[in-house]
Amino acid sequence: MALVSAKDMLNKALAGKYAVGQFNINNLEWTKSILQTAQELQAPVILGVSEGAGKYMTGFKTVADMVKAMIEEMNITVPVALHLDHGTYEGCYKCIKAGFSSIMFDGSHYPIEENVAKTKELVGVCNGLGLSLEAEVGSIGGEEDGVVGMGECADPDECKKIADLGVTMLAAGIGNIHGKYPANWKGLSFETLAAVKEKVGDMPLVLHGGTGIPTDMIKKAISLGVAKINVNTECQLAFQEATRKYIEEGKDLQGKGFDPRKLLAPGAAAIKETVKEKMEIFGCIGKA
Ligand code: 13P
Repeated sequence: MALVSAKDMLNKALAGKYAVGQFNINNLEWTKSILQTAQELQAPVILGVSEGAGKYMTGFKTVADMVKAMIEEMNITVPVALHLDHGTYEGCYKCIKAGFSSIMFDGSHYPIEENVAKTKELVGVCNGLGLSLEAEVGSIGGEEDGVVGMGECADPDECKKIADLGVTMLAAGIGNIHGKYPANWKGLSFETLAAVKEKVGDMPLVLHGGTGIPTDMIKKAISLGVAKINVNTECQLAFQEATRKYIEEGKDLQGKGFDPRKLLAPGAAAIKETVKEKMEIFGCIGKA
């Protein structure tokens, strides 16, 4: 199956009261684990690519071509969207050219008028090409790939302004943070989420910072209109722990070093487990 826009899968998720997972990819192993899990569980999936991860993989074209080839070679039949995560204005155009099927323009650091103007322009381009577009209002806290946000609750009126431009989905800050949550975290602001939902109606909402949010909060967020949840750090932690253990156990040390394929296998298996656990919580299994 060719890459698809995230529009249909998110509208279905919103109607069915579940969420589709966006799992960020960093290399071939990461991508393979996520695609395998989605196929095994018959779940739609969104592969997220940060600008940093895109650069690491030598550019967005490499990423798009790799993912498309993997879908074909692995006989993936579930819907897969390839999505730019927290894109800059220039990054959006690079990914559109490279063949991504979904784009996030993160204009949350611009004054609202500039965020509106740039988002509006991108809505026109993405609609013309059949791509989905995510916009952000109210920055997500924490640090991701060098981008630091203080975390703030979005203004519901500003959310409406951006939603009315015709974006496919909206990421609204509701006290969520990228990476691990600090011990004194106050939790998600459901008050903000409900106020945003009230203003934007049937627009699928996106919850960033999916790592470490308690299951009851995830379920409540889904009941209030969240249809896409982003997860990155949890896969990284699972990968790190599995790899660390493998190295500590010292397998394959026969004067030749580790076989790179064997070295990466436990981490890849750990990512599969993490993705499965998240998909169970999000309720998207069997929804392909
Ligand atoms: P976490 O790293 O906290 O899972 O957040 C991922 C994310 O929101 C990507 O946009």
